[in-house]
Amino acid sequence: MGTGTSRKITSLCKREVRRDFKSPSVPLFQRGKFKKLFSSPHALQSWGARFSRILKPGDVVALIGPLGSGKTTLVQGVAEGWGYKTGATSPTFALMNEYRSRRGLLLHLDMYRLSTAELESFPLEDYLDPSAVCLVEWADRVAGRLPDEALDIHLKIRSPNARLLNISACSSDWRKRLKPLLPAAM
Ligand SMILES: Nc1ncnc2c1ncn2[C@@H]1O[C@H](COP(=O)(O)OP(=O)(O)OP(=O)(O)O)[C@@H](O)[C@H]1O
Ligand SMILES: [Mg+2]
Repeated sequence: MGTGTSRKITSLCKREVRRDFKSPSVPLFQRGKFKKLFSSPHALQSWGARFSRILKPGDVVALIGPLGSGKTTLVQGVAEGWGYKTGATSPTFALMNEYRSRRGLLLHLDMYRLSTAELESFPLEDYLDPSAVCLVEWADRVAGRLPDEALDIHLKIRSPNARLLNISACSSDWRKRLKPLLPAAM
């Protein structure tokens, strides 16, 4: 896996967090680091459905986490909230799924299967359609090619049924939009 590109994602966010820490009066929530524990797939999907409501065309969401950490589970919730009725599935073999609803187009990409050479020739930029929302699993494999404004969502396995979601909201726009969704953010 591309650990170098993963570090790049984190370091962008750290710069923002450090800036925010200069002011002790800035509430924790606004410091750009949010964590939430989900104790079932359903709980993560429900949050995904709520998260879908703040998404708008042109948004790119980078999903980062090991195998089985819940990236697809989260997208299933987002797709449902988006109004897609059939149910999202893993695009690991298709590379990309499209979910259309009255709200528009939601693209679901998965960068896991591509080799390093294939990743280089994969026309990722063509999929970053300004009229669509784009969710990218294994985004750390293409981190240098995602827009700076992309929202990074990290998922970690805490126990067989618990997943820790960690958001580094790097822009004030994302922080504003996420605020109602993460009242218990740390
Ligand atoms: N709290 C939870 N949230 C999400 N998934 C959970 C949770 N608890 C258990 N699971 C299980 O973990 C698995 C998560 O699978 P999922 O396909 O969403 O992971 P993924 O990150 O997309 O993996 P991959 O990298 O292989 O695509 C599912 O089998 C799901 O039922
Ligand atoms: Mg997956």
